[in-house]
Amino acid sequence: MKYHNIVLPSLSLIQEKVQRAIPIKYDIFPGLTYLPNNKELFLSIPELSSALVSLGLLDYIDCIAVNTFWKTTSPIHRDSGYSKYSLNIPLCGYKGTYLEYFTTDVEPIKKSTASFVNTELDPIYYDYPIESCILDTIVPTDCPVIINIKQPHRFINPHSEKRSILLIRLRDCPEVDTIVANLE
Ligand SMILES: [Fe+2]
Repeated sequence: MKYHNIVLPSLSLIQEKVQRAIPIKYDIFPGLTYLPNNKELFLSIPELSSALVSLGLLDYIDCIAVNTFWKTTSPIHRDSGYSKYSLNIPLCGYKGTYLEYFTTDVEPIKKSTASFVNTELDPIYYDYPIESCILDTIVPTDCPVIINIKQPHRFINPHSEKRSILLIRLRDCPEVDTIVANLE
C-alpha cells in the first residue's frame, strides 16, 4: 500500500488550530520542522486527538513535523526515521500540490538534512538519482492522506504560494500495519 485518503470530519477546524499553534518563527521556515514538544503541542488540539482516536492511531504516534515549502520539486527520496507510514494533513497552500511515487532498482544515496530544523528524529534522508527512477503513481496532496514514506517519492508544489503540511509520523509496528491494511 502506498497511500490511502482519509476523511477527517473536523478538517477545517484542525487546519485552523494547528496553524495557530505554530510559533511564527517556525511558520516562515522552509523545510521540515520538529517543534519542541511537537507531540504534546499538536495533540492538545481536541479535534485532532479525537480524529486520531477514531482512526485507532493515537497510541501509535512517533512524532509530528511541519513541512513548509514555496514553489518546490523535492528530490526523489525515501524518509529516514523509524516510521513507515505518515498521516499527512494539508494546512494551507495545498491546491494543486501532489506527490509522485517511483519504482527503481537502485539503492539510495545518503544525504544530510542541514537545512532542516530540530531534525534529531530525521537526521538524514536518502536520495535516488532521477535517471534510475520510473514514475509509478501520482497522489494529490490536497486532502489528508496516509502515505508509505519508505517508498521512493517526491512532493511537488507547482505554485509560489506557501504550502504547509502536518506530518504525523506513525510508529512502525504490526498494529499500525493492521490499521492501515483495514483502510483498504
Ligand atoms: Fe518524504
